[in-house]
Amino acid sequence: MSQEANNSEPKLLGLMAQFDDPDSLLAACEKVRKAGYTKTDAYTPFPLHGIDEALGIKPTILPWIVLTLGIIGGFTGLGLQYVTNADWYPFIISAKPVWSLPANIPVIFELVILHAAIAVFIGMLFLNKLPTFSNPLFRVPEFARATDDKFFLTIDATDEKYKPNKTRELLDGLLGQTDVIEVFHDPTPAELPKIIKFVGIGAAVVALIPPILLWRALYQTSTVPRINPIRDMDIQLRGDTQTKSPVFADGRTMRPRIPGTVARGEWVDPIMLTGIVPEAGEQNVLFLQDEVPPAEDEEKPAEEEKPADDQPAEDKPEAEEPADQEPMADAKAAEGDPAEENPVEGEAPAQPEEPEPNWVKIAPINVTNATLERGRNRYNIYCSVCHGLAGDGDGLVSQRALQMEQPTWIPPTNLHTDYLLIQPDGKLYNTITHGIRKMKGYGDQIPAEDRWAIVTYVRALQKTRTGTPEEIPAVEMKELEIKGQ
Ligand code: HEC
Repeated sequence: MSQEANNSEPKLLGLMAQFDDPDSLLAACEKVRKAGYTKTDAYTPFPLHGIDEALGIKPTILPWIVLTLGIIGGFTGLGLQYVTNADWYPFIISAKPVWSLPANIPVIFELVILHAAIAVFIGMLFLNKLPTFSNPLFRVPEFARATDDKFFLTIDATDEKYKPNKTRELLDGLLGQTDVIEVFHDPTPAELPKIIKFVGIGAAVVALIPPILLWRALYQTSTVPRINPIRDMDIQLRGDTQTKSPVFADGRTMRPRIPGTVARGEWVDPIMLTGIVPEAGEQNVLFLQDEVPPAEDEEKPAEEEKPADDQPAEDKPEAEEPADQEPMADAKAAEGDPAEENPVEGEAPAQPEEPEPNWVKIAPINVTNATLERGRNRYNIYCSVCHGLAGDGDGLVSQRALQMEQPTWIPPTNLHTDYLLIQPDGKLYNTITHGIRKMKGYGDQIPAEDRWAIVTYVRALQKTRTGTPEEIPAVEMKELEIKGQ
């Protein structure tokens, strides 16, 4: 109510003089300042050099605010890195020190810039008392030209020196002044309209809902599937690996291969896989996953029925002189004599009930230098530990086992043993694939191509003992001679 009464007679804010040119304004400012007024301000359409000095406006303290915040930012960056890298998580990375200033400079720099920029922005707003929604000057129609072509000087009515008549006189007497205007306070109530208050409170309450929901989701467990508004490809009509499927009778989502079929491009020559030449009329389509039964059978009975390997008739070996291998081998192993030759040498092992498969005599692959290189590489990796780099059966594993007098150790076969020299390549290949007696198979680890490469390399190793000088190409012979002597 009292406000209403006040409104009838607006309170004076101050006096405003209008000028047409900047020079008059500057001169007027000078004069007003000299007269002792301090609560003054000038408004110009463009920045006016010298106005600060003329009016006695002190330089802004914004730079100091920015400097302070920048320094704080720098130390924040430094401290952050020290605490995280050197104290909380002192991980050594690439042998670098956990605490080293040069490494910290980029982050320090970034935080200085960040803090300074924020200080400039917030500080400017704060020092200018922004945002201000209204200014009484805007109610003076003439003042609109302050951004166009007029210059204004104001003296606040609260200034200590302010005397209604004297100040008016001073302004009236200023050179170049075109008008002196009384400026009054805005008489409209300063409070926000009620509706804005309600809307503001309502908005604040609504804004609280998302954080509350997040908090709830963080600390509550739920048995309901989570809400997934943006599904992307989360849910698809497909079976995941190792899951159940109602579609198939056996309930498996992952389907096994259908026996007797082969995927396009996956057919492999059975001889390549098994080392066995199929008999006429025999199934001649084989798949990587189901190798020929004979090869598989061969593996197990081999324990009992020593394969007849020293048979010159490789294709259909009929062992004549059965010999009980196993006891001999055991006995020798117990003796731990590394010099022992392979137990089967020169012996005709027990006659297998079934005839030996029709081993392919020569490896069914193209043998090039690269094949032999590959063979050497694979042999050295997979075989040399037992059979030795040169194939003498004196690999490091074997040496060690003998040294430790491992009672169950069977010395690896010397690959230069006579019966192995005449063994068909297919049989040797089968030994690598399925193992033999005490030696395990390497079919799961070495691909077929590499197994054949190893076979050719073993052959090459054997040749180093059985070859004649005539077999060495002339060029290489020469090289050897040079090297040797
Ligand atoms: C862990 C040791 C070990 C490794 C590795 C090993 N072998 Fe053997 N190998 C043996 C032993 C032991 C025997 C003798 C088994 C027996 O008489 O019971 C043997 C026997 C053999 C024989 C004789 C087969 C026969 O007909 O009598 C050949 C050939 C052979 N290995 C080749 C290889 C090749 C090629 C590799 C590499 C892929 C290899 N071995 C890797 C231990 C090994």
